[in-house]
Amino acid sequence: ILDTKDLKIEKVVINGQEVQFTVGEKQSFRGSPLEIVLPVALSKKQEVVVEISYETSPQSSALQWLTPEQTSGKKHPYLFSQCQAIHCRAILPCQDTPSVKLTYSAEVSVPNELVALMSAVRDGEAPDPADSSRKIYKFIQKVPIPCYLIALVVGALESRKIGPRTLVWSEKEQVEKSALEFSETERMLKIAEDLGGPYVWGQYDLLVLPPSFPYGGMENPCLTFVTPTLLAGDKSLSNVIAHEISHSWTGNLVTNKTWDHFWLNEGHTVYLERHICGRLFGEKFRHFHALGGWGELKNSIKTFGDTHAFTKLVVSLKDVDPDEVYSSVPYEKGFALLFYLEQLLGGPEVFLAFLKAYIKEFSYKSITTDDWKAFLYAHFKDKTDVLNQVDWNAWFFSPGLPPVKPKYDMTLTEACINLSQRWIKAKEDDLGTFSSADLKDMSSHQLIEFLALMLVAVAAPLHPVQVGGCRALGSRNGHR
Ligand SMILES: *[C@@H]1O[C@H](CO)[C@@H](O)[C@H](O)[C@H]1NC(C)=O
Ligand SMILES: *[C@@H]1O[C@H](CO)[C@@H](O)[C@H](O)[C@H]1NC(C)=O
Ligand SMILES: [Zn+2]
Repeated sequence: ILDTKDLKIEKVVINGQEVQFTVGEKQSFRGSPLEIVLPVALSKKQEVVVEISYETSPQSSALQWLTPEQTSGKKHPYLFSQCQAIHCRAILPCQDTPSVKLTYSAEVSVPNELVALMSAVRDGEAPDPADSSRKIYKFIQKVPIPCYLIALVVGALESRKIGPRTLVWSEKEQVEKSALEFSETERMLKIAEDLGGPYVWGQYDLLVLPPSFPYGGMENPCLTFVTPTLLAGDKSLSNVIAHEISHSWTGNLVTNKTWDHFWLNEGHTVYLERHICGRLFGEKFRHFHALGGWGELKNSIKTFGDTHAFTKLVVSLKDVDPDEVYSSVPYEKGFALLFYLEQLLGGPEVFLAFLKAYIKEFSYKSITTDDWKAFLYAHFKDKTDVLNQVDWNAWFFSPGLPPVKPKYDMTLTEACINLSQRWIKAKEDDLGTFSSADLKDMSSHQLIEFLALMLVAVAAPLHPVQVGGCRALGSRNGHR
């Protein structure tokens, strides 16, 4: 039985022999089970090759088909996919769960003027023997992945080399700007390797999508997808790249076994992301972002309500569409737990050593929160008494804010608070005391924080809802 959603199945062949199949009734967001009848002649441990001929639907929840008018170049159509969480079934029949992993190879035939890319290593291109107006692009992904990481893009794409293992791809209108914006990618990859161990995927390319891409970034292996809204011109949103790079270890190598344990992917990835930014911009910067994350967590919990089940770190998704649950909670409550443990267990170096060992232990596997916790206790076996102080039950299973707030260095945040206080308290006569010099030592992240504080102070009584929206957009930018 395989998962499918809006696929038209034409034929199923097993070991060269056509077999019977049925497509069950559609079960809302889950789609329809494809049940294949095995030929009786199969023996135990026999290798089975299943060939399925099928068509996707224009309504596929995984595929976005853009008309030429919806692209930057306006000449050619564009296609991209987004499988996370459970949309791979709307591209191909599969076991659509992160608890199993697969390798894949693919050949994609597209019109000559377009380029196809996938979440895999590029493995050559050739004229399509069946049609001289088309080309075939080949791909191979040798590292086992959960199927939500299968990804495809087709468009009038160009590339620039920005590092020894990195090309940045986009329509030609964005390619120069993208190359400048993401020039730090190789430095980030090196830091990430230092923290997480060797990068096993070969290539690390970036794809800048058209504006209708629904997330800030998606960690498709070998080819991170990012939104063009990251092209700020000053590299200030590069933390999203640090985040997607970190998924090459946490999420893509070590994967949550079910969507209930999504925090394992995202909490560890945010933790690594902030260490990469800390190495680049300083420890105070890491703490500044950590505190920003705590603020986002508070916003999410306020939005859901502090007794809502979706504010638990470990959720229970039976009969719930994972897309309904998506929020900053697994990211920021997960991060807060790891940041708290870092402080409890002896600091960043000690905890990064744990993280490296964790990645080594569980690479290529799909795990649960219990696996993670058992490994934590094994790694810190001489600190069991410290670990036993942690209120695990509250951290994992209680809704609302975590039982403990970690400690944050306040230097960079204080600069924002102090300046906002000066503005809030200023009288008409004081206005001459403000100048652009007030802002010259502030990063763009601090400016966002300063403006957010001003909005809360000035506009909140009038527009409380809009204030929350601005914060969320400025910081996490909706990336996965
Ligand atoms: C694991 O995390 C990935 C994202 O990092 C998500 O797409 C997937 O659904 C998760 N799986 C489970 C079972 O939580
Ligand atoms: C913020 O203001 C307080 C009180 O005036 C001062 O002690 C502190 O050093 C200031 N912090 C920064 C980062 O400017
Ligand atoms: Zn992520």
